[in-house]
Amino acid sequence: AIEKTFVMVKPDGVQRGLIGEIVSRFERKGLKLVGAKLMSVSQQLAEQHYAEHKERPFFGELVQFITSSPVFAMVWEGENAVSVARTMMGKTNPAESAPGTIRGDFGLTIGMNIIHGSDSPESADREIALWFGNEALSYDKAVD
Ligand code: CMP
Repeated sequence: AIEKTFVMVKPDGVQRGLIGEIVSRFERKGLKLVGAKLMSVSQQLAEQHYAEHKERPFFGELVQFITSSPVFAMVWEGENAVSVARTMMGKTNPAESAPGTIRGDFGLTIGMNIIHGSDSPESADREIALWFGNEALSYDKAVD
């Protein structure tokens, strides 16, 4: 099915100048970019985004990191976009992510692993609503 997925270049990826590389990989794969913005993340947005990890020992560190400098938030659309994007990103732990994946090629530690992508269509819906609200997400129609 045609899906939308939420993908975010984390502060480490932005600081290392990897936005273009990452956008390019998704474009060449054939996914369509339907929303994107460079933005600072508030404490509240970070805590909502990572709500499922609230009880984990690394939660504080995670929120601290994601709010430390701007992220590049995106929505990509296409056939099976959620799982396709996950495959392209590689495993969460860069030690286990295969070469050829984004984390496999550019990441070294689990905390600073460059990129986030929704883990299911349900998460994608929730995350797109959280990060893009009612902003128009489209590439084939003029919007005002
Ligand atoms: P992400 O896909 O953004 O979702 C949750 C994040 O928690 C994950 O990527 C990791 O970057 C981060 N994280 C930090 N420390 C750990 C850890 N010890 N185990 C799992 N995830 C961690």
